[in-house]
Amino acid sequence: MDRKLNLDRAETFSFVNPWIRYFLFFFSFLFWVFSLLIVAIGVYAKVQKATDTVRDTFLIDPAVILIVVGVVMFFITFCGCIGALRENIRLLKTFSFSLTLVFLTQLAIAILGFFYSDQARDALGKFVKKAIVHYRDDLDLQNLMDYIQKEFKCCGWNNYTDWSWNLYFNCTHDNPSSERCGVPYSCCTPVPGEAVINTMCGFGVQTQNFMEANKSIYPVGCADKAVMWIESHLLLVGALALGLALPQIAGIVLSQILISQIQDEITSVL
Ligand SMILES: *[C@@H]1O[C@H](CO)[C@@H](O)[C@H](O)[C@H]1NC(C)=O
Ligand SMILES: *[C@@H]1O[C@H](CO)[C@@H](O)[C@H](O)[C@H]1NC(C)=O
Repeated sequence: MDRKLNLDRAETFSFVNPWIRYFLFFFSFLFWVFSLLIVAIGVYAKVQKATDTVRDTFLIDPAVILIVVGVVMFFITFCGCIGALRENIRLLKTFSFSLTLVFLTQLAIAILGFFYSDQARDALGKFVKKAIVHYRDDLDLQNLMDYIQKEFKCCGWNNYTDWSWNLYFNCTHDNPSSERCGVPYSCCTPVPGEAVINTMCGFGVQTQNFMEANKSIYPVGCADKAVMWIESHLLLVGALALGLALPQIAGIVLSQILISQIQDEITSVL
């Protein structure tokens, strides 16, 4: 309706701040491209795992989570991008509203996670238990568990005896596996100056007590190590949370400013 009027007024004063408008545009565009990337990674992971039945043992497939997050992000950032470019109030309002919803959801999850940390820990423990049970069935799970144990210098969830959850490492006496009572190599403490890597260093450690096991492997469970890690990296955890929240808050505030500026513009024209 005000297209022609806008053109007539093109060279006169405008209520819409071009800096805010283009900043919101570029900022949304950046995250819009990023969302496409997330969807692509999710689809790639999903296609690669199309014939895998192990994934069905998990309640939620990580690839599906990526795709859902990417698609939601795609639509939100699309609204912000086109809304800012075309000064479209409806798209900007959709952008602002969805971003507020996402922000509040994350805030709720963070607060619930803080007050129900024991339950969160149990839920994570269930996930790790499944990863241990299926350690040998899925290369991704194997890599994930190996990475966690090496990075956090830990073994199992509660402690190294958790590896009995896995068929191969189960410590019952009639288990025919050659790895009976053992733990994976990723539990092993590196021996300085060792010429040949001893991949069998985890064999039989489940029968040893804490002090004996401590000589060859990381005896502490990953749950305790994760808590220690968070406590010693509170600053990093806070910075990450802020890094997630700040762009969202900026998007909400900037789109609200732009909406009110466009509305001022319209009323000035009418
Ligand atoms: C390992 O954890 C289990 C379960 O929490 C516990 O029963 C067991 O005593 C622990 N073993 C060692 C050696 O710490
Ligand atoms: C080990 O295997 C036995 C026999 O299959 C089973 O009864 C036991 O629960 C397993 N141990 C663990 C810790 O899952």
